[in-house]
Amino acid sequence: MADDVFPNPEDRFGLPGWTYFNDELFALESETLFRRHWQMVCHSNDIPEKGQFTTFDLVGERALIIRGEDGVIRAFHNLCRHRGSRVVTEENGICKNAMVCPFHGWSFNLDGTLRSPARPRTLPDLDPVEWGLKPIECEIWQGFIFIRFKPGHQPSVKEIMAPHDALIQQQQLADLVPATAPFSSEIWKVNWKSIRDVDNEGYHVPIAHPGLQDLYGKDYQDYNLTGDTALSVGNFNPSPSYMWSTRNYRNLVQHLPEPWASLPKAWHYILLFPNQVIGLYPDSVIFYQDIPVTTGTSIQRSASYARPNEDRVTRAARHLAARIDAITGIEDMHLIEWSYEAMKSSAFDGIMLSELESGVGQYHHRLKSMFPVMNCADEPAPQMVKVINDNMSGTNINGADHPVR
Ligand code: FES
Ligand SMILES: [Fe+2]
Repeated sequence: MADDVFPNPEDRFGLPGWTYFNDELFALESETLFRRHWQMVCHSNDIPEKGQFTTFDLVGERALIIRGEDGVIRAFHNLCRHRGSRVVTEENGICKNAMVCPFHGWSFNLDGTLRSPARPRTLPDLDPVEWGLKPIECEIWQGFIFIRFKPGHQPSVKEIMAPHDALIQQQQLADLVPATAPFSSEIWKVNWKSIRDVDNEGYHVPIAHPGLQDLYGKDYQDYNLTGDTALSVGNFNPSPSYMWSTRNYRNLVQHLPEPWASLPKAWHYILLFPNQVIGLYPDSVIFYQDIPVTTGTSIQRSASYARPNEDRVTRAARHLAARIDAITGIEDMHLIEWSYEAMKSSAFDGIMLSELESGVGQYHHRLKSMFPVMNCADEPAPQMVKVINDNMSGTNINGADHPVR
């Protein structure tokens, strides 16, 4: 088993500590991972009305996603073509007929074209399309809205998720309705990879998460990171629960109406590389995403979606699932902080992964193949991270020819 799980023996030892706090590496990650990979913004049903929008900021980029007069959802850079102000300033909202920039008042139609600059006689004639908001690549998969700031090597979200089609089909994701405001955001003082490292394995569940252990701990399985997804499955324990919330949750899930009654009695998590997870529960669907801000600051966005036409039992089950999740999140927070702190300790000289932490090893392996400089045990000298990385990969990592997706 070890050979499959750790194709390179050194993958048991994790990434070197410097990769968690080096600004030059962070710049490479921002460009190659975050600007060039699909990012989920929200669900179409978060913006059901014409003119309704949401915004999404990531590594210096700002997106605005808005439903037009024609009902079509489009994504744009939230960047006024006059002087670069944000065109919409709220996280979520609704525009009646136009988006009006708060700086000098240029207005844009809901399809992004320039409606009118302020005091147009003081400006040359401006073509409404040429001077409209710049579009961002956008894909709606099963109702979820994904964007990509720059072209990348990932295929479409539909293709990426294809291995999970059978599982997804039962879920009717396109019909989900938001159970919370589009997204909640928590700021954590850690590197984004420290969040991934804790989330990418279930080895810690029996000790760190009594609630999850009571729910599914005895039958939890991580599957390999293949393509751009990894699957983890926790089948509910058949034995009696000793915790109040888990006992009631498992009981309610037995009484869901069809078609939810036919869903597996399990929590499925799909990691969509590099930084987001969809959780499929019988009663609801959750989503969380790590947003890097600096090497030592990250935002965790999360949202929960309810089944359409939710009945009382399903709603009660969803609330209990959210309660179990909230407690799990608090338990994880400390583990993530301690892991991140360790990276700066003079005593840190690598980790030792169990086979039950294969998800961490495989994820690190993927990062090392994308960023060969991560194989350097010691932090490179200033200005050398990109140079070494380019030399080791034999190509410019920011270029379109980067060989690893
Ligand atoms: S920056 Fe938007 S109107 Fe001036
Ligand atoms: Fe955890």
